[in-house]
Amino acid sequence: MCGIVAYVGQQSCASLLVEGLRKLEYRGYDSAGLAILDKASGETVLGVVRAVGKLAKLDEALREKPLSGTVGIGHTRWATHGRPSEANAHPHLVGDVAVVHNGILENHLELRAELTAMGRKFSSETDTEIAAHLIDLELSRGASSLLAAVRGALGRVRGAYAIAVVCRKEPDVVVVAKSFSPLVVGVGEGETFAASDVPALLAHTRDVIFLEDGDLCELRATGVKIERMIALGDGSPTSAATRVVPVERKPRRIDWSPAQAEKQGYKHFMLKEIHEQPTAIENTLRGRVLLEEGDVNGAEIGLTEAQARAIKRVVLVACGTSHHATIAGRNWIESIARVPASVELASELRYRDAILGEGDLVIAVSQSGETADTLAAVREARRRGALVLAIANVVGSAIPRASDAALYTHAGPEIGVASTKCFTTQLAALLMAAIWLGRRRETLEPARALELLKRLVEVPTAMRETLEQADAVAKVARRQIVSTDARDCLFLGRGLSYPIALEGALKLKEISYVHAEGYAAGEMKHGPIALIDAQMPIVVVAPDDSHYEKIASNVQEVRARDGRVIAVVRKGDSLIGSIAQDVLVVPFVHQELTPFVTVLPLQLLSYYAADFKGTDVDQPRNLAKTVTVE
Ligand code: G6P
Repeated sequence: MCGIVAYVGQQSCASLLVEGLRKLEYRGYDSAGLAILDKASGETVLGVVRAVGKLAKLDEALREKPLSGTVGIGHTRWATHGRPSEANAHPHLVGDVAVVHNGILENHLELRAELTAMGRKFSSETDTEIAAHLIDLELSRGASSLLAAVRGALGRVRGAYAIAVVCRKEPDVVVVAKSFSPLVVGVGEGETFAASDVPALLAHTRDVIFLEDGDLCELRATGVKIERMIALGDGSPTSAATRVVPVERKPRRIDWSPAQAEKQGYKHFMLKEIHEQPTAIENTLRGRVLLEEGDVNGAEIGLTEAQARAIKRVVLVACGTSHHATIAGRNWIESIARVPASVELASELRYRDAILGEGDLVIAVSQSGETADTLAAVREARRRGALVLAIANVVGSAIPRASDAALYTHAGPEIGVASTKCFTTQLAALLMAAIWLGRRRETLEPARALELLKRLVEVPTAMRETLEQADAVAKVARRQIVSTDARDCLFLGRGLSYPIALEGALKLKEISYVHAEGYAAGEMKHGPIALIDAQMPIVVVAPDDSHYEKIASNVQEVRARDGRVIAVVRKGDSLIGSIAQDVLVVPFVHQELTPFVTVLPLQLLSYYAADFKGTDVDQPRNLAKTVTVE
C-alpha cells in the first residue's frame, strides 16, 4: 500500500507534492521520490529525486538536488516487490517516461521475462518498472499520445494499480489510471491534482472525483479528461484487448476535517482497518492463487518442491494475535498437507532447548517482522538446522531477512495497535502455504485444492456482507458489555473457532480493558463453568461446521446456569440462535474458511465496546504496536 500524488498547474510543485505525500505517509514510508517536468530552459527536463526512508530523507535529497517545474508526480512506498532501497524507490524512469504506482501487478514475472528477451534492462526488482517499460515500448512503437501509450500498456497487465505517469515529450500532461487501488482527482482553478487519498488534496481543493476501476485520465491544468477502459474479452478492465468509452464524473465537495480524511471518514484507524479486510485479503491472494491449476504460486512462497517434500514436521511460531493465526494454520497444515504440526509461543520456544533441526519447517508469523522473541526463535531454529519460512507484512523487515524464505501478507500498513487486517491476511497466507505444501506432497487431491481455492477467493465477498452488520454488533456491544458494565467475559470456540475465541478475548482486553478469556469450548467444564453467572457475557463462536452440535450443548450448559450468551452463528441458524440472548450473524462459507468471517463480529464487538467506553482505541494504554524487546 503506497501513496501517490500528481500535480499539473502553474505553481512550482516540488514542495506541494512533498506536502501531499506527508499526508499519505500513513500508507508507507520505506522510501519516497518525485519526478518533475521542467520547461524553463526551453527544452523540457525530466528530473527525478528518490531517497530511502521517511520523507525527511527526500527533503534532504531535494535540498541537495532541487527540482523545479509545474508538472510532477510523487510516491511514498510500502514495499511489496523488492526491498526498500533507492533502486526500488519510485518514480521509475525508462526513456522519457516516469511512473509511480500503488498496487501489485500479478503477471509481472511473465512480463519481465518477455521484456528481458526483447533486450530491455531492468534497474529494480519492482513490478512497477515493468509498467514503465511497457509505456516506453508503446511510445517507441508510435503511440499517438501518452494517454494512448498508457492505455496500451495497461492492456498487458493484470492486477491492481493506481498509477501516475509523466513523459518528457508531453510536458503539460499527467496520465493517471485506476484498477482496484484507490485514486482521487482534485479539481482546482487552473490546476489539477491526483492522489491515493483525499487528505493529500485538502490543502488545495475540496472538489474531488473518486475514480472507478478501469478509469484512465489525462490531467491538464485546464481540467481532466476521463475514459473508461472496457475489456473486449472477459469484461475485466485489465484484459489484454481493451476498448474505451469517454465518461463524465462529477466532482464531489468534501467536508471532512483533515484528521477525518486520513481515516477516510472512519472515527479510528482500527475501524478503518477492520473494514479494509476484504480488500486486504484480495491483495494477499492476488497473483498467488492459480485457479486454472487448482494450485498456489510456488514462486511467491520461495521454497523448492524438494524442500516441501523433505519436511517431516512443521513448527509454527509467533506472538500475540499472530500466535492465534498460527493455531488455525496448524489445523490447516495437518488437515490439508498431512504433516505433523505444532504451535509455539516464540518467547517460550527460544528458551526451552527445543528439539529442532533438519526435516523441520519453522513458519514464523509476524505482522511487523520485527518482534524480538519471534526473531530470536527464528535465529535459534536456523542455528539448529531447521528451514524457516517467514510470513510477514513488512517487506525487508528483520524476520523475513533472517529466514530462508518469505511469504508476505499484503495488508498494507496497520496503524491501530490492535491487529485486525493483518490477522486475517495471515490466515490467508497460512492457508495458501498449507495448500501449496499439500499439492507438493500429494496429500491434497487437485479437486479438493480447487474447491478450497475457489471458496477462498469468494471469502472477501462474505467478509463484506458480514461487515455490513456493524451497526447491529454495536448495539450488542452497548447492551451486553457497556450498559451492564461487564468486568469479565468468556469466549468459547472449538476447532477453527478456538483461535477465534482466543483472538476475540484478546481484542476485548487490549482495547476496552474488560477482562476476557478465550477457551476451547470442550474445556469449559474443567474450570470456566464455575465463573458463569447472570453477570458474565459468554461469547460462543458457533459457525456451521462439524463441531456445531457439540458447541450447541455447551450453549445449553451455559444457559442452564443463567449465563448471558452472545453467539456468532451462520445466517438462518435456528438452534443456537434461538437460545442465545444475542446473535452476531455471519454468512455461510466453506467450513475450512469460517475464521475469516467469524472473527469480524468479534473485532467489531471489541471496537464498539471500547469506543462507547471512551478508551483510546488506536493506542491503548501500555501496549505497543511492535515489541522489539523481550
Ligand atoms: C504486539 C502487538 C500485537 C501483535 C504482537 C505480535 O503485542 O500489539 O498486535 O499481535 O505484538 O506482533 P507481530 O508484529 O510479530 O505480529
